[in-house]
Amino acid sequence: TSGSLDHRVRDLSLAEAGRHQIRLAEHEMPGLMALRREYADTQPLAGARIAGSLHMTVQTAVLIETLVALGAEVRWASCNIFSTQDEAAAAVVVGRPESGGTPEDPRGVPVFAWKGETLPEYWECTDEILRWIDPATGEDVGPTLILDDGGDATMLVHEGAAAERRGGVEADPQPGERGYSAEKLVFLETLRRSLARDPERFTRLARTIRGVSEETTTGVNRLAQLAARGELLFPAINVNDSVTKSKFDNRYGIRHSLPDGLNRATDVLIGGKTAFVVGYGDVGKGAAEALRGQGARVIVSEIDPICALQAAMDGYQVANLDDVVGSVDFIITTTGNVNVVGLDHILRMKDKAVLGNIGHFDNEIDMAALEALPGVVKTEIKPQVHEWTLPAVSAQDAPDGLERGERSVIVLSEGRLLNLGNATGHPSFVMSASFANQVLAQIELHRGAEEDTEAHDDEENATPGLSRLPKILDEKVARLHLEALGARLTELTKDQAEYIDVDVAGPYKPEHYRY
Ligand code: NAI
Repeated sequence: TSGSLDHRVRDLSLAEAGRHQIRLAEHEMPGLMALRREYADTQPLAGARIAGSLHMTVQTAVLIETLVALGAEVRWASCNIFSTQDEAAAAVVVGRPESGGTPEDPRGVPVFAWKGETLPEYWECTDEILRWIDPATGEDVGPTLILDDGGDATMLVHEGAAAERRGGVEADPQPGERGYSAEKLVFLETLRRSLARDPERFTRLARTIRGVSEETTTGVNRLAQLAARGELLFPAINVNDSVTKSKFDNRYGIRHSLPDGLNRATDVLIGGKTAFVVGYGDVGKGAAEALRGQGARVIVSEIDPICALQAAMDGYQVANLDDVVGSVDFIITTTGNVNVVGLDHILRMKDKAVLGNIGHFDNEIDMAALEALPGVVKTEIKPQVHEWTLPAVSAQDAPDGLERGERSVIVLSEGRLLNLGNATGHPSFVMSASFANQVLAQIELHRGAEEDTEAHDDEENATPGLSRLPKILDEKVARLHLEALGARLTELTKDQAEYIDVDVAGPYKPEHYRY
């Protein structure tokens, strides 16, 4: 730590390099820059204290500085141990040029993130963004809002508050128990330490936090489960299901960043090879399109007949991984589900085939079983690229009865999202649309919290819910990006608007429209 600004990053001397990249990214993020101009005077986030847990990349730096430009105080951590761009983190801490900050005297935003955190460090950083010391009183006042990606910060508060209610952290789970991994054990240990220091911290946090906006499919699933059980402690906005988020970032973002990650990691030619994409949701559609664009023959698997039919109509072979695993050169998981590639699949993969995941968590590929395989050897080719040498198997032991000699498979980012671990995630333009939704969601939550404080008390106990941004804001985000692409929108005439029964200014589609 240098100067008085709280932070934990790799190296503040990287700030200048980070600032150059941020400057170029701003040019590619017209949505965020338009929101800065629109709200410069009214400062709709004044008084908000935002704890952000989202990949600490160059694009996220532009998001953070937009939140600050709208009046918020911000603290930030990454939501993945490999996704931080250290130069972006440094630049955010040092601060914008006009702040006069330097690596010796940083004046930007407290960031707690670096590429290659350990799991205990990861949870310490997540814990740090929830710690908000009021300089006047020395008291920890906590954040008022969470901006989450995958739901880890939200989970920490919810599980922390639950543990405090019970008077202790649950007993360590048995290995192999559903949903419990080494990761979970580290999480419980973090919780235990925090409770030992202050047994009411999370209960207080649950009271001061007035809402969360969630970035991704997996985090939204977690929130929906909490809401269904009536356990959600504060209102949540599902940013992922804004059309200008999931139908763009998850799809076109992946179409760009999946081949980027594959190329930087392995530089193996994709053309002419066979690629298997597990899952054909928004992310799977972008992944399959990118691989086909590179000349691969793409095979898709799905459990949902609608998505499977879509894949077939889009011209992909739809198959079971079990049936073709021995003949594919790449396997990419995109489901947000658990164990979709198991050890029996890995054991049957081709020699030097590449295995990677772009779903949110590292349990899509059964990495734990691979690590535990007797005789397996893991060789680091370079950071986030590992060759796993599989022992020879006799016909008797092989799942398909075929004898195999020693072979190896290449696993990217240890099974974590490879587009962020092996490359730098989605490009700025598409993240501008996602993050414009985030900013609008934070404004809504902050406004809601203020109205809540004014109205107060009589309405207490209303169960907080999970909602989406209104469609008119979704359309606004799209509008903000059209001009930069030189796209000219056609305006409805009044007659036409009446004929199809919409307002000339939108929204143009009913809620159930699927795009
Ligand atoms: P989605 O729900 O649209 O698609 C997932 C698809 O996987 C569904 O169609 C589902 O039927 C299918 N599926 C589930 N289990 C399966 C199985 N066992 N075999 C085959 N298919 C199966 O979700 P979306 O938006 O595509 O997100 C997927 C994951 O990617 C989530 O974890 C999300 O958080 C993450 N994500 C990652 C990004 C990145 O930059 N790496 C960006 C956006 C989302």
